[in-house]
Parts: sequence; C-alpha cells; structure tokens
Amino acid sequence: MIAPAPRATHLVLLFLVSVPLFATDASAAAWWGTDSSFVLAAAQTHRQDPLDGFRYYTGGWNISDEHYWASVGFTAAPVFAAAGVWFVVFGIALFLAACCFCCCCPGRARSYSRACLAVSLVLLLAVTAAAAVGCAMLYDGQGRFHGSTTATLEYVVRQSGDTVNNLRTFTGFLQTAKATGVEPFTLPDKVKGTIDEVVGKVSAASNELAARTASNAAKIRSALETVRKVLIVVAAALLILAFLGLVFSLCGLESIIYLLVFIGWILVAGTFVLCGTFLLLHNVVGDTCVAMGEWVQHPQAHTALDDILPCVDTAAAKEALDRSKEVNYNLVNVLNGALANVSNANPPPQLPPPVNYNQSGPPVPLLCNPYTADLGDRACASGEVAAADAPRAWQAFVCRTAATGGPDQEVCATAGRVTPAMYAQLAGAANVSYGLSHYGPVLAALADCTFLRETFRSVGDDHCPGLRRYSGQVFRGMLGAAVAVMLAVLAWVVHAREQRRRSEAKELIMPASPYMFHHVEERALLRAR
Ligand SMILES: *[C@@H]1O[C@H](CO)[C@@H](O)[C@H](O)[C@H]1NC(C)=O
Ligand SMILES: *[C@@H]1O[C@H](CO)[C@@H](O)[C@H](O)[C@H]1NC(C)=O
Ligand SMILES: *[C@@H]1O[C@H](CO)[C@@H](O)[C@H](O)[C@H]1NC(C)=O
Ligand SMILES: *[C@@H]1O[C@H](CO)[C@@H](O)[C@H](O)[C@H]1NC(C)=O
Repeated sequence: MIAPAPRATHLVLLFLVSVPLFATDASAAAWWGTDSSFVLAAAQTHRQDPLDGFRYYTGGWNISDEHYWASVGFTAAPVFAAAGVWFVVFGIALFLAACCFCCCCPGRARSYSRACLAVSLVLLLAVTAAAAVGCAMLYDGQGRFHGSTTATLEYVVRQSGDTVNNLRTFTGFLQTAKATGVEPFTLPDKVKGTIDEVVGKVSAASNELAARTASNAAKIRSALETVRKVLIVVAAALLILAFLGLVFSLCGLESIIYLLVFIGWILVAGTFVLCGTFLLLHNVVGDTCVAMGEWVQHPQAHTALDDILPCVDTAAAKEALDRSKEVNYNLVNVLNGALANVSNANPPPQLPPPVNYNQSGPPVPLLCNPYTADLGDRACASGEVAAADAPRAWQAFVCRTAATGGPDQEVCATAGRVTPAMYAQLAGAANVSYGLSHYGPVLAALADCTFLRETFRSVGDDHCPGLRRYSGQVFRGMLGAAVAVMLAVLAWVVHAREQRRRSEAKELIMPASPYMFHHVEERALLRAR
C-alpha cells in the first residue's frame, strides 16, 4: 500500500521545483524565528493510519513523514482490496473451472433456457458499452490531466527562469558598476572587492537554481510522459479486450473466450492496482493544494513545507541586498563628486586640464542617491534627478567640443558643462544605479519568500482546480472501466456457455443439422443409448 509512495513523491515534487537558492535549514529556521509549528491541511489529512494502530493521523501535510503516506494510502485500501479479492477469488474459480473441464464433466449436455441466453446477451452488451464509456472517460481524463500537469510544470519552470534572469541581470549591473566611473573618479578598491564577492555568490546561486530546475523538470516531464503512456495503454487494452470478448462470445468461440478470460483476469487486477495508486495520487494532490494555500496564508509559522523548501538563505540574500545598496551608494557619490568638483566648478583658469575644459552655463543637477550612508532609504533633495530620468536631464548640459591641445583633450566650444565623452560615462553610471535599485526589490522578494508565496498562490488558484478535477476523472474512468471489464469477463463466460448449451440442444432437436459434422459421432452414440 505504501510501495507507490516514492513515485508519487516524485510527482508531488512537481510543485516544489522552485528550489532553495542559498539553501540551508538552519537559516530558514532563523528566518522563521519562532518554534511555532503550524500543521498544514490538518482537517484534510485527518485519516486513519494503519502504521499507528488505525488511530487518526494528526501530523498534517508532510511528505517526509511515512505516517502521512500510510494514511493517504489507506484511503485507497478498498480499491487495493478489490484488486486482491478479484485476483484470488477469480483465480480460484478459474482453476476449479479448468479442473472440472479437464476431468469430471466433459461435454455433458444440460438444459438451456431461452430467457437465460437473452439475459446474458443483454448483460454482455450493457457491460461492453459501460467498458467503452469508462475507457473513453479514462482516455479523455488522461489527456486533460497531462495538459494540466504540464501547464503547472511549465509555469513553475518559467517562474524559476524569470528569477534566474533577474539574478543574472542584477550581477550584470554589479559587474558594470565595477568598471563605471567618471574619469578619473572610480569606485574605491574596497567596493570593487565587495562587488566581486557578491557577484560570485549570486552567480553560483542562480546557476544552481537553473541547473536544479532543469534537472527536476526533465525528471518530472519524463515521469508525466510515462504516466500518460501507461494510462493510454491501459485504456486501449481494456477497450480492445472488451470488444474482442463481445465478438468472440457472440460467435460462441469458447476456447478463445477462455484465453481472453485469463488475460482479463490479470488485466483487471492490474487496473485495480493502478486505480488505487491514482486515488492515492489524487488525494495527495488535493492535500498539497490545500497545504500550499495555507502556507501562503501563514507566513510566520514553521510548517512541513519549510522543511523541504526553506525559501532562500535569508541571511545571504540580505547580505547581497545590503552590498548592492553599498555599491549603489558609493557609485552615486563618485558620480556626484565628479559633477560637483569638475563639471559644476567654475574653473579658475590656472587649473590644468582635464578639470578645465572651458565649461560654462548653469550647473548640472546632481544624481539622487537612493540610500543614506547607513544604507537606509533616502528621499531625493530638491534639484536632484532620479537615476531613471538623469540621462535625459543631463542631455541639456552637453556642449559641443573642439579638439584642441594634446591627444584626447576635448574642450567645450559652446556653452555647457559636460563633454559628450563624459556624458556617456555619466549616463552609463546612472543606468547602473537605476538597475541596482530596480533589482533590489527582486532580491528582497527572494529573501523574504514573497516570490515563492506568489508562485504557490498562483499554482493554487490557477492550476490546482484542474489538477484535482482531472486526477479525479482519471481515477473514476479507470475504476469504471475496470469494473465494467470485470463484469464483462463474467458475462462472456455465462453467454458462451449458454450459447453452447443452445447449440447442443438444437442438435438434439434437429439431428440433421448439416454443418456440425464433428457431432455426427456423438449423435450416433446418443441414438445407440
Ligand atoms: C515532518 O515529518 C518529519 C519526519 O517524521 C519530521 O521530522 C518533521 O518534524 C515533520 N515536520 C513537521 C512540520 O511536522
Ligand atoms: C569635491 O572634492 C573634495 C576633495 O576631493 C571632496 O572632499 C568633496 O566631497 C567633493 N565634493 C563632492 C560633492 O563630492
Ligand atoms: C569657451 O566657451 C565659450 C562659450 O561659453 C566660447 O565662446 C569659447 O569660444 C570657448 N573657448 C574655446 C577655447 O573653445
Ligand atoms: C543599461 O544597462 C543595461 C545592462 O548593462 C543595458 O542593457 C541597457 O542598454 C542600458 N540602458 C541604457 C539606457 O544605457
């Protein structure tokens, strides 16, 4: 009963592809701070646990707990029991019938009733129709189930891919910041060292996330593909068997019918087992959906989901966020220093180039620093421009240059305070500052699990109803088809026997039956009696 658990675990991991970034359990516990445990999906998972003397299981959704699997498995017990009973009872019946056929009662003619034949015929047609409906429902259900699991998987993979892209863009900005400055002003060496460190950590984390997502998604895709193939094969096998059985029992080919009965015996037992597994899976999907919903609603509690998915190493993510603020703060300072001390300076003529390049006109607005020295948020002072608007605002202060003097010496020939070369550097630095502050919240969302909660909320709202409905449909279709084929197997036997008795009876009534040559001897024997 518990044997299918690993496979089902695999499927449940569908929801859990978004993997910890800098994962360690200790830091996750630190984030949650308190020891207040919260039992996920408590009402939903209140089931009898066969491993614990059939007492009710109270641990909630926890796929690390064998008692959880045992209690879910127990919900499928009736179906597994039906499989066992069918296999044993019908097996014994087959064995006895075979014995009887071989030794005790060969070809004994018995009376036949027309009503019996008619009833068995109606029964045969009815169960064959039922089997066809069940198979159609199973086939339709597996298609929808496959569609909704695939959509869920692709959604989670896309979310993960977006995160990886965000992290990569963020490290790209950091790396650009390292090389950014307004000559001869650049970032202090200490800050450059910090950048290398943060870039290294964040790159490792995003590569890990990308690799884990790719490998988990590939595994889950192949598992889903296998499930799909198995379901299609089962539906087709049941349908073909039902129709062959119908045709051969209508023709009265008893020996082939017994072969089909034997195949049906095995196939029905196998389908029941599969059915139970799907019921288990259906229940686990339902539990997981409820658990994800509750996890989203109880951000502060420690739950079983946190054991598996400790969000990210929040300390590391906060560290990365702080370092990015520090880099940003220093970058804006360097840039403003250049603007205040070079561009906006009214150059005393005796100062040597590059400080004096004939700048003139109104002063260039400084860039707004989004952070204070202790990395708190800072509101812009009046006269400062935000990083996003700065390149456009500064364009008004660019002068046209005339190359005079030594190599690389540009001098403003018109009014203005920024040469085109300086403008390019300034705009580049403002872009980096904008990028760093723009991706800060993305990093913060990773750090406090907002990202994962958003993913779970969306899976719960958009994907769970379909997953639940279609896994239920597959289960019901399969159960219906299995029961119908089971009844069909019985109907074949009954009908084929009735038909044989009828033909035997006919032969007795109409001895001249011209197409039963092999019975001539038998008739001669009867007459002799
Ligand atoms: C989940 O089950 C495991 C194994 O029994 C246990 O160690 C863990 O504490 C459980 N988690 C919760 C939140 O109950
Ligand atoms: C201008 O340069 C001086 C000396 O290098 C420095 O102390 C000052 O902070 C700079 N001004 C700005 C606005 O950065
Ligand atoms: C310096 O700029 C002024 C305009 O502000 C211009 O008239 C003058 O020609 C420039 N000097 C040189 C050497 O280019
Ligand atoms: C800002 O920087 C990013 C990344 O380096 C780059 O792709 C983008 O083109 C830049 N934008 C501007 C306006 O320079």
